[in-house]
Amino acid sequence: MSSPSGGRAGRAGARRRRLGPLACLAAAATTFAACGGALDPQGPDAGGVAVVWWLMFGIGTAVYVVVLVTLGLALRRGRLAERGDGRRPSRVAGMPLLLVGGVAAPALVLVWLTTTTAVMGPREAGDDALRIQVEGRRFWWHVTYPDGDVITANEIHIPTDRTVEIELTSDDVIHSFWVPQLAGKVDLIPGRTNDIVIEADEPGEYEGVCAEFCGIAHAQMRFLVIAEPPGEFEDWLAGQAEPAVEPTDELALRGREAFLGSSCVYCHRIEGTNATSDFGPDLTHLASRRTLAAGIIPNTPGDLAGWIVDPQHVKPGNAMPAMRLEPDQLQALLAYLGRLE
Ligand code: CUA
Repeated sequence: MSSPSGGRAGRAGARRRRLGPLACLAAAATTFAACGGALDPQGPDAGGVAVVWWLMFGIGTAVYVVVLVTLGLALRRGRLAERGDGRRPSRVAGMPLLLVGGVAAPALVLVWLTTTTAVMGPREAGDDALRIQVEGRRFWWHVTYPDGDVITANEIHIPTDRTVEIELTSDDVIHSFWVPQLAGKVDLIPGRTNDIVIEADEPGEYEGVCAEFCGIAHAQMRFLVIAEPPGEFEDWLAGQAEPAVEPTDELALRGREAFLGSSCVYCHRIEGTNATSDFGPDLTHLASRRTLAAGIIPNTPGDLAGWIVDPQHVKPGNAMPAMRLEPDQLQALLAYLGRLE
C-alpha cells in the first residue's frame, strides 16, 4: 500500500524522469547554439576548427554505433548460450576483436585526429600581417593599433582577406579571446603575451566573447570584430587616429565642461583634451562605436544615459561608478559624447 507521501514522491520521480530528457535536450541545444558560430566559419582559421569538429563528430558517431552493435551481438550470444541454443563464447576467440577494437582502432583514430589537428591548427602570421594589441581588463577589451597610433575599446576593425595577428595580454586575471566565426580561442594570461591569428573572408560583424571565467561580469565581457574592405578599413583607421572633434554648439560645449570637471577624467581618455587616463575605455571616438559596456547594449543616447547614471544595474561588478548628475548636465554630457564620432 502506498502512503500519500509515497504517491507524491512517486509522482515527483515520474516528473523528474520525464524532465530528464528535456533538460538534456535543452543543455544540448544551448551548447549547439554557443558553438553554432564555430560551425559557420567565415575565415580560414575558423574553417580548420570546423573541419576538426566535424571529423571528431563523425568518428565519435561511428565508434558509438559500432560499440552499440557489438554490445547487442554479445548480449544476444550470451542469452542463446544460457538457453543452451548456442556455443558458450570463449575468451580466446574474443582476443582478435579486443586487439582490433581496443588497441588498433583507437590508436589509428588518435593518430588521425592528432595529425589533422596539427595540420589545421593555429598558423603563423606572415610579415604583411596587420598587428593589433588587445589587453583583457575586467570586464572589457583595450585595443591598440601600433602602426596607426589608435586606441579603442571593445570593437576591433580589420580589413578583409588579410591575416591579422592579435597580441593578447592581461594585467589582472586570465581571460580568453574567442570569435567563433573567425578562429579558435586563446587565453590572455597575466605576465605572458600570446598570439592569435584571425582572418575574415567577407565584410561583416563577428561577435566575440571572453571564454574564460574571470569574475562576476564574465558573461558580459563581449566585443565585436568588424571586417571591412581594405579601403574602408584604412579610412576608419585614419579617422580613429584623429583627436576628438571640437564641439561647436552650446549644449555640447557645456557637456565637455561637465565631463572635464567631473571624476570621468580619472578613468577615461579623450585625445585632444586633458582627460588622459587609460584605466577605463578610451572615449575619443565613442560615438563611432556600435555598442557600449563591452558589447552588451547598443550605443544609443538612451542606453548611454542609463549606463552613465546606473552602470551597476546594467552590468553588475564592472568598475564604473554611478555618476550623480543634474538632468541638464546629463543632457549636455550626452550631447558632447554623441559628437565624438
Ligand atoms: Cu574576461 Cu571572462
